[in-house]
Amino acid sequence: MNYVKYTPNIEVKQPNEDEQIDKIVEMMHAANVKAFDKHRHGIRDAHAKQHGTVVGTLEIPELPEHLAQGLFAKPGSYPVVIRFSSAPGELKDDSVPVPHGMAVKVIGVPGKKILPDKQDEVTQDFLMVTMPVIPFGDVEQYLKMQNVVALQDSTSEEGQRAFAALARGGQKVLGLLGISDPTLDGIAAENEHLLGQTYHTMAAIRYGDYIAKISAAPLSPEVKALEGQILDTKKSPSAQRDALVDFFHKHGAEYQLRAQLCTDLEKMPIEDASVEWDEKLSPQQPIGRLIIPQQEAYSPARRVFSDDKLEFNPWHALPEHQPLGSIMRVRIKAYESSTAFRHAMNVQPRVEPRDISEIPQ
Ligand code: HEM
Repeated sequence: MNYVKYTPNIEVKQPNEDEQIDKIVEMMHAANVKAFDKHRHGIRDAHAKQHGTVVGTLEIPELPEHLAQGLFAKPGSYPVVIRFSSAPGELKDDSVPVPHGMAVKVIGVPGKKILPDKQDEVTQDFLMVTMPVIPFGDVEQYLKMQNVVALQDSTSEEGQRAFAALARGGQKVLGLLGISDPTLDGIAAENEHLLGQTYHTMAAIRYGDYIAKISAAPLSPEVKALEGQILDTKKSPSAQRDALVDFFHKHGAEYQLRAQLCTDLEKMPIEDASVEWDEKLSPQQPIGRLIIPQQEAYSPARRVFSDDKLEFNPWHALPEHQPLGSIMRVRIKAYESSTAFRHAMNVQPRVEPRDISEIPQ
């Protein structure tokens, strides 16, 4: 297969990108301040609700040249900490169907990292969501969507029409934003067990000499058995957490980490992350296994450490895995703003683990 080589010029800065990024971050921060005032506790501006945090290992096998890149260049085994979440920046009842997040932090990764203040850290993060694409795939679309969301409380006809148009984009899009539209809940009321889902970076990253989207899919029989399983969310507002905690009391889990390499910059664009990369053009190729043993996934110590001290960020990365495209570039300021506010308001240190033993049992 003819894999597209990474060069810096595959990224193209959008017109007014800096202004649009500042506007997005400003609006997100305003929402975050509101959420703080409601909960009297700093929470993430996205993926606020944790369902459990687990430790495990990433096993990297010997890979062919095109996959043996960056972190995956050599076979090895690294400890990981993984936080599972729901996408909204609010704590919602689990009966509202929303996309879920899997944030993986690989620990013990040598080499200088991208962010100047994180250069000497030993972590490489991969943030993934249960959708293959982000429906507003560049900063211009993202800002438009944010403006529309701000209208959702609006009583003006124009605001309501704009909101209805967005709603037609589908239940999952709304879920990502933390909005529950009762007219759509009935149509798409699926609420799948979060451990049976496949998680995607949605946007592209550099993959050493190449470019890829990364995903993690259920591999071991116990999590494969959960694929498509609808959870009964009436039992508890935290049904997803209860299901996850119960699962890891009884079983371990394995997920296959895969890379889908870009083979065509036109059909698999970098600057528009709303375009799904066709698996006929480039298949998902295994690059490693996430192996998670049986454990206590939501002890008080682990919950607080994961929610209030840890931070996951796609820019906690080796230059060989640089996030690509404007939807990734906005995340530099967006994550810093959310993280800094949350840690400051909760008076917590920003912990970047150097060893897996720092993650409480
Ligand atoms: C493009 C694909 C994206 C993926 C796969 C993704 C995934 C995630 C995940 C899994 C988390 C939870 C991390 C944790 O457990 O701590 C998260 C948090 C967050 N995301 Fe994203 N996200 C994406 C795009 C964006 C964009 C475009 C923005 C903003 C414009 C954004 C803003 C945030 C913020 C502010 C947080 C919370 C940061 C913190 O306080 O620690 N994300 N994201």
